Amino acid sequence: MRTLIALVLGLAVGFVLALIAARALATIGAHPKATMVVMARHLDALRLANGASDCDDAVVAARLDQVRAMAREIDFAFPGDGPEHAAFRRRSGQFRSLAETAATTSGGCTGLATALAELGQGCQDCHRDFR
Ligand code: HEC
Repeated sequence: MRTLIALVLGLAVGFVLALIAARALATIGAHPKATMVVMARHLDALRLANGASDCDDAVVAARLDQVRAMAREIDFAFPGDGPEHAAFRRRSGQFRSLAETAATTSGGCTGLATALAELGQGCQDCHRDFR
């Protein structure tokens, strides 16, 4: 009887631990896509704001700030090593500088078209090689 209880307990604990591990892995697996999706949402909002009559400088600044935050997130979301990953890191570094410039030198709605063109090019430059 004792053995049976120990066995059932062991299986139950094992099951719970396996669930916890599976959830942790799913969270890690979602991180790269989540980073990209958040960045894309902010970029879409900026594209809508661009040229709109109700474009708001403060909102543009806030969106550009979040694009910069996501640019800083990329290396953590896409870990790796080796030569190919070094090239990826160079690309993400370039994008980080673009996002940094866009966020710090933004003229709000006025400079938005230029910022969008540069950021959009940065997305494409990396996707062309690594997506
Ligand atoms: C340094 C590289 C890099 C930069 C810069 C980059 N991306 Fe990505 N992006 C990737 C990679 C790699 C994937 C594929 C990720 C995957 O499938 O797990 C991806 C995937 C995506 C996806 C698809 C996500 C999904 O649901 O599968 C979107 C949307 C996206 N990127 C938007 C953007 C936007 C918008 C920008 C610029 C503001 C950008 N990316 C900049 C590397 C980059």
